[in-house]
Amino acid sequence: MRIPIIAGNWKMYKTPQEAVAFVNAIKGPLADLSAAERVVCPPYVALPGVAQALEGTEIAVGAQDLHWEDEGAYTSQVSGPMLKGLVKYVIIGHSETREYQGVTNEMVNKKAKAALHHGLHPIIAVGESLAINEAGNTQSFVETQIRAAFDGIPASDLERIVIAYEPIWAIGTGKSASGEQANAIIGNIRATIADLYDDAVAGAMRIQYGGSVKPNNMIEFMSQPHIDGALVGGAALKEDSFVELVRLAIEAKGL
Ligand code: 13P
Repeated sequence: MRIPIIAGNWKMYKTPQEAVAFVNAIKGPLADLSAAERVVCPPYVALPGVAQALEGTEIAVGAQDLHWEDEGAYTSQVSGPMLKGLVKYVIIGHSETREYQGVTNEMVNKKAKAALHHGLHPIIAVGESLAINEAGNTQSFVETQIRAAFDGIPASDLERIVIAYEPIWAIGTGKSASGEQANAIIGNIRATIADLYDDAVAGAMRIQYGGSVKPNNMIEFMSQPHIDGALVGGAALKEDSFVELVRLAIEAKGL
């Protein structure tokens, strides 16, 4: 069985103090919702405080990116050895890093390998633009992203990887894919993993949907058979709504 995973991608929101106050407020309500994996991904500067505040809980912490080199003259960047011990997960290839920081499919692959090398669990994000979607090329575009991201990654590492399918046109727009649309694309992603590896690994791979997920559409996504969780931006920034998303995921999966 694939354990649902609900991750809050906080993007560039919350100061370190606000971040700690947030996790202190949710850790009680989330303690009982252990049928789903719960992850918060604050900005880098909030990671030490959040990690400390969540010590002894089952709520995992994730970073929003990493560089593939261990160290070097890469102003502004953060590496695997710096994150090791602080976080479990790291988001890689989010469309905002692809768009604003020039992250390519090849870099996503290098970042994923670096994360795995340092014992981290990558959340590899893929997804198409509105133009690609409207041209009917979503499936081939996403498949290319997946094949590139997983190039040279051994099957033995796959249990640590989560994939997030986030159509760019649905991020922060209030316009989400329908549950059925998202399930179809995510089913194709699973088929691509089966083609690259085998049915068993593909069947065990957790794949999230992301893009304007809110409490009012969570059940629609989570009741789809291929959708194993959500990567959430805006609705993960409020205590009540993040807790509610986790509760709804558990309810939709009948756990
Ligand atoms: P929203 O939930 O705000 O649309 O953001 C989605 C996202 O980009 C999560 O990584």
